[in-house]
Amino acid sequence: PPLDTLLNMDDIEAAAKTQISKKCWAYYYSAADDLYSKSLNNLAYRQILLRPRVFVDVTRHFSTSTTILGGRYRLPTPLYVSPAAMARLAHPDGEAGIQRGISRFGALQIVSHNASMTPEQIAAAAPEGQILGWQIYVQTDRAKSERMLQRINAMKDKYRFIVLTLDAPVPSKREHDERAGIEARLAFESAASSPASQSQSGKPDPNAGVGKQLFFGTAADLTWTTTLPWLSQHTDLPIVLKGVQTHEDAFLAARYSRAHPEWNLAGVILSNHGGRSLDTAPPAVHTLLEIRKYCPEVFETIDVWVDGGVRRGTDVVKALCLGAKAVGVGRAALWGLGAGGERGVGRVFEILQGEIETCMKMLGARSLSELGPRFINTRAVERD
Ligand code: FNR
Repeated sequence: PPLDTLLNMDDIEAAAKTQISKKCWAYYYSAADDLYSKSLNNLAYRQILLRPRVFVDVTRHFSTSTTILGGRYRLPTPLYVSPAAMARLAHPDGEAGIQRGISRFGALQIVSHNASMTPEQIAAAAPEGQILGWQIYVQTDRAKSERMLQRINAMKDKYRFIVLTLDAPVPSKREHDERAGIEARLAFESAASSPASQSQSGKPDPNAGVGKQLFFGTAADLTWTTTLPWLSQHTDLPIVLKGVQTHEDAFLAARYSRAHPEWNLAGVILSNHGGRSLDTAPPAVHTLLEIRKYCPEVFETIDVWVDGGVRRGTDVVKALCLGAKAVGVGRAALWGLGAGGERGVGRVFEILQGEIETCMKMLGARSLSELGPRFINTRAVERD
């Protein structure tokens, strides 16, 4: 169907499903165990109600811009693309297509460690001045990670920060993915680990699924006081920790960022990996509420970003009201790519950005700095 007839993320997902392979669909759609966290991610936003105010002139000085990484960068939209592996499974445009699709919105892409194109190819698709992030899974063979960091450091004008994903020390059980088997075409011009992971793991288990196929080589021995100093020795870029799921860990991140400025710890992403890691792990909304309750100073110390389950502009605005500085979409961007390549991703951002603006104007908020808890009622989520 023509992209402009697709009106929401359900339409985009359905259109993608008709365009992509069964294997690709199973890998993107899948989540851990019973997919409970995946559906709760989305439900948690539904449970929050909005509190619109009237008699606000929303015609003047309207903006959705946000600042990230302690004010280092200003972005026209808080909506960004979360790191997600293997975009070329969905469409030959791949991660470069994602980048071109979001460029007119000035939006940020965090490129996955398991991207299906090289970081150089993806950076080349970004117009001048557009910034990207690079996500890593630390490898058991640290020298491999160090070489990858060097490569990213050499593109400092494009890749402005490193995202370290922490919520997947071991592979999870993703049954849709496992039933659909492994993907022979993973030997794309991949960035970091995937071709290597194939050759080193010998013959991948045909019953493993793409998730496990990509996982080979990932380290499970990371700690606050060993990994962060090591990382800061190999890059000067600010570090954002992805997969924080409790107020305790958010608090520790903020404390370590103060105690060790030399580690360059600039933020956390509250995420349960789109429900793909530990099933029944909390949605970012719950973690945001915990932080608000037990250690709200975290929001003043480091950036807090969130992802998981975002399908509407109202979801994005609710996360911002709870203190998030930026909000990521994983699958939505991939479904957009599947539905129509670079233009499909553009359509996803057009829809969501339009919904964000409508929501803010309906609420009577003209800028992200005006958003806050006064615009939401969280009673139903706090009851859980
Ligand atoms: C992911 N995610 C992910 N995260 C990460 O840090 N590194 C990665 O390589 C990947 N790969 C990946 C592949 C696919 C197919 C999906 C769907 C997700 C997780 C991703 O960054 C993000 O946390 C979730 O996708 C957010 O949830 P939604 O938006 O998909 O609901």
